[in-house]
Amino acid sequence: MTNQPPNQPPHQLRFDDRAAIVTGAGGGLGRAYALLLASRGAHVVVNDIDRKDDAGRTPAASVAAEIAELGGSAVAHDGSIAEPSAGPAVVDTAMQAFGRVDIVVNNAGIVRDRSFGKMSDQEIKDVLDVHLHGTIGLTRAAWGVLRERQYGRVVMTTSVAGLWGNLGQANYSAAKAGLVGLGRTLAVEGARYGIRVNLISPGAATAMTSAMLPEHLHERMSPDRVAPMVAYLCHESCTLTGEILFAAAGRYARNLIIETAGYENPEATVEDIAAHLPDILDTTSWTVPAQAVQLPPG
Ligand SMILES: NC(=O)c1ccc[n+]([C@@H]2O[C@H](COP(=O)([O-])OP(=O)(O)OC[C@H]3O[C@@H](n4cnc5c(N)ncnc54)[C@H](O)[C@@H]3O)[C@@H](O)[C@H]2O)c1
Repeated sequence: MTNQPPNQPPHQLRFDDRAAIVTGAGGGLGRAYALLLASRGAHVVVNDIDRKDDAGRTPAASVAAEIAELGGSAVAHDGSIAEPSAGPAVVDTAMQAFGRVDIVVNNAGIVRDRSFGKMSDQEIKDVLDVHLHGTIGLTRAAWGVLRERQYGRVVMTTSVAGLWGNLGQANYSAAKAGLVGLGRTLAVEGARYGIRVNLISPGAATAMTSAMLPEHLHERMSPDRVAPMVAYLCHESCTLTGEILFAAAGRYARNLIIETAGYENPEATVEDIAAHLPDILDTTSWTVPAQAVQLPPG
């Protein structure tokens, strides 16, 4: 798979000799990402939980075998990314198998939906552990390797729930919004080391969502329609960083956190705030702050 087949267009974006880690890649979106990256030459570490099917195969081993059957290069890592030891273990798997890490796709996820008042401590912890702590643990384990090589493409997975809120998903939304802060800060910190960090907000019919989506949308919402966006974010030609990109059902878009031009009055009283609320909320003029610290000129 390292040589480009003669019938491929010459401009195909490829990942030859790059090593990618994709968590939760034993199914759903992660599997689609792993297959696409491998089909374009990447060596892939396929991570997923250590749960065997009837044939005694784990989800990660199945997808790694699928990639190998298609002529690609992949190894499996079986184990929960929520475990504190998982990040270093996954990076170690990549280093042992391929001698490098270039790409980290933090994708593994679970939901434990319930209304906030009834949500248990365990349901909150489990969700934060997989999405937030799992992403922190793996990205931190890979960070040193990426920094040393002055190159990295990191993708984190947020969600419409984290960006806009969703009924019954307080735990999940908190984790997914936490990843936005994490990703944007790592984009700032990684800039000087050639590490780009972006977020994907995907929509697809998978084990996580199929039951909630009408049958007729399943094909249209194939994970394969999200994968090109994620693969692009993993490519060396991608110079974006700190972006939140949406991909679902063949539509690709940019999500923004904006700051309105607002209302300025250093002596503002509570009454001034009330009176000028329309100016504060007005979206006619706005900016996208590049990072938190932007002191006004002295
Ligand atoms: N499908 C959507 O519409 C949608 C929307 C927004 C965000 N997302 C996010 O996209 C990601 C992928 O979701 P999906 O829709 O493919 O779901 P999915 O359930 O089909 O796949 C998730 C995969 O992660 C694995 N996983 C779960 N816990 C893990 C752990 N602790 N360690 C390693 N692997 C683990 C699962 O075994 C599964 O293979 C998740 O982060 C999810 O929150 C999905």
